[in-house]
Amino acid sequence: MSDIQEAVRERYAAKALQMAQSSSCCDTSCCDAGCANEYSAEELASVGVDPTASLGCGNPTLLADLRPGERVLDLGSGAGLDVLLSARRVAPGGHAYGVDMTDEMLAVARGNQGKAAVANATFLKGTIEQIPLPDASVDVVISNCVINLAADKRAVLREAYRVLGPGGRLAVADMVALAELPAEVKRSLDQWAGCVAGTISIDEYTAALRDAGFKDVDIEITREVRLEGVDGAIASAYIRARKTSLTGSLDLACGLTDAELAQRRDEWRALEAALVQRTERDGLVEAAYRASPEVRERLERLLALERQCCPGARWDLREDGALLRMRISAT
Ligand SMILES: C[S@@+](CC[C@H](N)C(=O)[O-])C[C@H]1O[C@@H](n2cnc3c(N)ncnc32)[C@H](O)[C@@H]1O
Repeated sequence: MSDIQEAVRERYAAKALQMAQSSSCCDTSCCDAGCANEYSAEELASVGVDPTASLGCGNPTLLADLRPGERVLDLGSGAGLDVLLSARRVAPGGHAYGVDMTDEMLAVARGNQGKAAVANATFLKGTIEQIPLPDASVDVVISNCVINLAADKRAVLREAYRVLGPGGRLAVADMVALAELPAEVKRSLDQWAGCVAGTISIDEYTAALRDAGFKDVDIEITREVRLEGVDGAIASAYIRARKTSLTGSLDLACGLTDAELAQRRDEWRALEAALVQRTERDGLVEAAYRASPEVRERLERLLALERQCCPGARWDLREDGALLRMRISAT
């Protein structure tokens, strides 16, 4: 664990112990002085969680437009409020995961889950720089005031991209820098853990998202925040981006209407239960599916349709033992 990670972990371990003793966490070390005021009383009541459980700077569950059946991942899930709200929104059929590196926070989150009696949620121990989930395993990645804490934000965004399936969405509330912070603030690990010193500018955030592979990057400032003793300005922001669909990642022009594209995406999604591996690099998408007559038939049908509408790509399918390997390359 890096020095920064250890400083952050220690700080949130102490916060978790404070929460476990039911004292308010809503002090200047919250990501935003507002704490849980982004959540309606009804939302909070639906999971029976105290508003002081939030150390976030927004409400990413609203931003993400979650739908029943979706799989959601919250990066740095803290006391679990966003995971529990997401789990409610994706029911029936969906699941919400939270990843956090701090044992004490995981314990608070699992306690809150027990109180809320939410079954379709799982809290995983791990870092957001190495997410403990397979490739293409979720539809939506959310996060609330955490990515700014990571020393290697690019690694976090690459991981978010990896775990999202084709067409997946990123919907994050985070702090960004509006004006450069003094060097001594940046150097202070204590300030870092308080969601101030680790902030990067909107331009840097956008570039990191694009470099990770995301498209349609949209960053909206929601509130400027001034903290005592800190020159420079930071702000809470809503950050949205999208992982393109199978063909979109190759930037192919496919002759489908929006409605047809949505239907085609649903058909590809229905095959994801058989998906075991998927990689993308420079104009090439490779995916492996568990072979069965039904999966083969559906893949062959979809590939025939894709060949018609996307003649700018080569679509191949071959059997490899127990797998069906699909390869799409931009020609
Ligand atoms: C500011 S709190 C936000 C918690 C929660 N998202 C919320 O809105 O209340 C930061 C949380 O992220 C976790 N965290 C910070 N950096 C992390 C990392 N690199 N990997 C995993 N968890 C991390 C901390 O343990 C803490 O629970």
